[in-house]
Amino acid sequence: MNFPDAAFWRTSVAPMMDWTDRHCRYFHRLLSRNTLLYTEMVTTGALRHGDTQRHLRFNTEEHPMALQLGGSDAADLAHGAKLGEQWGYDEINLNCGCPSDRVQRGAFGACLMNEPHTVADGVKAMMDVVSVPVTVKHRIGIDRIESYDFVRDFVGTVSDAGCKVFIVHARNAWLDGLSPKENREIPPLRYELGYQLKKDFPNLVIAINGGITTNAQMTEHLRHVDGVMLGREAYYNPWLLTTWDAEFYSDPHDTPTREAVEEAMVAYMERANAEDGCPWYPIARHMLGLYHGQRGARLWRQVWSNHKLKPLPPRDVLNIAREALARGAEKPNEMPHDAV
Ligand SMILES: Cc1cc2nc3c(=O)[nH]c(=O)nc-3n(C[C@H](O)[C@H](O)[C@H](O)COP(=O)(O)O)c2cc1C
Repeated sequence: MNFPDAAFWRTSVAPMMDWTDRHCRYFHRLLSRNTLLYTEMVTTGALRHGDTQRHLRFNTEEHPMALQLGGSDAADLAHGAKLGEQWGYDEINLNCGCPSDRVQRGAFGACLMNEPHTVADGVKAMMDVVSVPVTVKHRIGIDRIESYDFVRDFVGTVSDAGCKVFIVHARNAWLDGLSPKENREIPPLRYELGYQLKKDFPNLVIAINGGITTNAQMTEHLRHVDGVMLGREAYYNPWLLTTWDAEFYSDPHDTPTREAVEEAMVAYMERANAEDGCPWYPIARHMLGLYHGQRGARLWRQVWSNHKLKPLPPRDVLNIAREALARGAEKPNEMPHDAV
């Protein structure tokens, strides 16, 4: 396979555990044709010893998409990458940014930034066995290491092993004392370090991530780097994705209505149920931001997250949700409600 153009990474939705599963990615794909979608992190151990089908299964509609691996042993990474390619993923990404205790005990994730040669070995082992791009997602530093040299040397070492694409979550990971959630909020964002990487390694594809919430911010970042990755905003406010094909890919097309997307999701829920008995609620939970900012959104969301409605078929829930949306829209004090 030829190496994709840098535009392949221009916009992406971040890997997010428990969030960006195949149902979520199916939903996001209804909103943008071009945006690259990442899986949740899958550990190499899970692929060696777990249920591969459960971890790697996806809907063909989801392309382009990347499998994110968590691990540090070169042979295990090569095994996981090979499986990912065989299953049809368009990219294999290595997680060098996750700060959770569980991940640190396994000696992978963000703590791998202290071991660039281990990462280089892992990347090389993966590249030896797959032809899709192998990429790395990382932070700008660990704990109190503030110097640019640290991340520059990390990227230098890993790119010497052949990695051409780096996704930079532009804040440090503080491995001691902060929860993963705090580690996405407290260490300050320093985008300029990502920009500097692009200047120092102009032949690499550099995408920036962390705290990005608007198209204007994305456009500004794209003046400095090749790509922008959004996590939480894409999840909470997914309608944003419907503007990206036209704005970032010169690929204007009719945008579906929110109602049409909801309808398509119900069809998907029916299909998933017919195929393997999957209930509607693990699917519906990912689309709760669909009416974000719209009048009636809160009542609509309450319907799709109402556990008492679980026994009903999704089409009945859809009808109840539509009524709730209309009712909410008519209420003078039912203001658009932003938090999901
Ligand atoms: C619920 C949740 C789960 C996450 N899981 C992963 C993960 O599995 N792998 C990873 O590299 N980053 C993970 N992240 C971090 C995101 O990929 C992203 O780097 C981070 O949220 C910053 O981007 P944002 O400010 O646009 O959300 C997770 C973030 C969230 C909110």
